[in-house]
Amino acid sequence: MPLLIKNGEIVTASERYVADIFCENETITRIDHNIAAPPGAEIVDATGKYVFPGFIDPHVHIYLPFMGTFAKDTHETASKAALIGGTTTFIEMICPARSDQPMEAFELWLGKAKGNSACDFTFHMGVTRYDDAAEKQFMDIVKRGIASFKIFLAYKGAFGVTDEELYKTLRLAKKLGVITTAHCENADLVLELQKKFLAEGKTGPEWHHESRPPVVEAEGVHHLMTFAEMHDAHVYIVHLSCDEALREALAGKYRGVKVWVETLIQYLLIDKTYAERPNFEGAKFVMSPPLRDKRNQDILWNGLRDGLVSTLATDHAPFDFAVQKEMGRNDFTKIPNGIPSLEDRVNAFFTYGVKRGRVDLHRFVDAASTQSAKLFGLFPRKGTIQLGSDADLVVYDPLSRGTISARTQSVNVDYNAFEGLPIEGRPHVVTVRGKVAARDGKFVGELGRGKFLEREPGHF
Ligand code: URP
Ligand code: ZN
Ligand code: ZN
Repeated sequence: MPLLIKNGEIVTASERYVADIFCENETITRIDHNIAAPPGAEIVDATGKYVFPGFIDPHVHIYLPFMGTFAKDTHETASKAALIGGTTTFIEMICPARSDQPMEAFELWLGKAKGNSACDFTFHMGVTRYDDAAEKQFMDIVKRGIASFKIFLAYKGAFGVTDEELYKTLRLAKKLGVITTAHCENADLVLELQKKFLAEGKTGPEWHHESRPPVVEAEGVHHLMTFAEMHDAHVYIVHLSCDEALREALAGKYRGVKVWVETLIQYLLIDKTYAERPNFEGAKFVMSPPLRDKRNQDILWNGLRDGLVSTLATDHAPFDFAVQKEMGRNDFTKIPNGIPSLEDRVNAFFTYGVKRGRVDLHRFVDAASTQSAKLFGLFPRKGTIQLGSDADLVVYDPLSRGTISARTQSVNVDYNAFEGLPIEGRPHVVTVRGKVAARDGKFVGELGRGKFLEREPGHF
C-alpha cells in the first residue's frame, strides 16, 4: 500500500522545509506540495510535526555472550523498542569468542536477526582473533556485505586482540576499504588496576571507574591512532567518554589519521556518581568505558555540536539488575558491563540536545542518523530524505511530554538508567521502507520484516 505523509516539516542533516512525501515500493518516490493521495494510500497527517529520516544506532549488542551470561534482548524485543524510539536501522556487533570461527559467528548472528527483527539491520564484524584461517574468512564476510570491523583493545582474554592482531586487522581493513571500529582502553592497565583494588578489598561497583580511569581510555585511543597511522587505515572510536580520550583522537585527526568518534547518550546524561549509589544499585550503571565525571559532559556536547564527535549511539547492552548484575556483588570485575538505552536515545537527544539549545536540528539528525549512514556504507539509501531513499521516516511530535521508566519500556530488562527523566518529544509515526511500524509509543509493525543491509566497503 502506498504511503503519503502530509504537511510535515522535513528536516535532514542539511535541509528544512514543509512538504508532502509519497512512498511506493519501499522507497520515497515524490516530495512535493499538495500531493493527492491515490486510492488505497495510507495517509499520515504530519501537520505541526517534524519528519526526520529514520534514525540509525551504529552500536548495539543484542545477541551477546559476555562475562558469563547473555544480554537479555532478542531481535524481536530490541527491534520493537528501537522502532518505538525512532530507530529504524541498527548495526550490531558480532562478538565471537577467540576460539570461534568468524564465518560461523557471522552465520550465527545473521541467523538470529533474520526473520525476527522488525527493523533493518547490519553488523560490524568482530575481529577477536587474527590468523591465516580467520583472515580468509574476514575476506569472505566482507564479500557477504559487511563493510566494517570491530576490535577490542580491552577485555583481555575474551574479545581483546594483541598488538600483532591489531596491526594485521588494520592492514587488511585498509586493503579491503573497510572501516574498523574500536573499543579503546588499555587492557593491561585495566587488569593491573582491577587486581590492585580487589587485593585492597575494594570490591564495590564504585571501583569500576577507578580501575578504568580516563588515562586508560586515552592510552587506548593513542594506541589506535598510532596503528591506524601506520596503515593509513580508517578507524572509528566507539563509546568515547571523556576529555582526555577526545584530545588523543583530535591529536590523531590533526596529524592526518582518518578517525571518527562516537559517543553515547549515557555519557551525556548520567555520570560516575550513579555507579557510586549505595546497596549495590551502582551496578546498574557499570559499563566500559565507565560513566565519567560530570565535567566531561559539556565537552562531549560541544564536540557533538561542532562535529568533532560524529555520531551518537547507545552501545545497548541489556543485563538485568536482579540476576545478572548481581553476579558481581562481591567483585566489581564480574558485573556484566552495559547500560541499555536503545529505546530512549532519540528522545533524550532531542530533549537535552535540541530543546536545550546544545545542538541544532540538523546536527541532531546528522549525529543520530546521517553520519552513521555515510561512514558505514548505507547512504543515501538510509540517513536522509530524498527521492530513491528507503522510506524510513520518523514523524516526530515535539510537543509530546513523557517520563522515561522501566515500567513502560519495551526493551527486555528490569531497570532503566534514565528512570524518571522527563522527555519533551517522541515519534508519532515511524515507518520502515514505507510501512508504519510504530505509532505513539506502540509497536504496530511486523516481526521478521527487517532486512539485512548488505554494504560495500568504501574507505580506500
Ligand atoms: O560496557 C559495555 N560497553 N558493554 C558492552 C560491550 C562493549 O564494550 O561494547
Ligand atoms: Zn566496548
Ligand atoms: Zn559495545
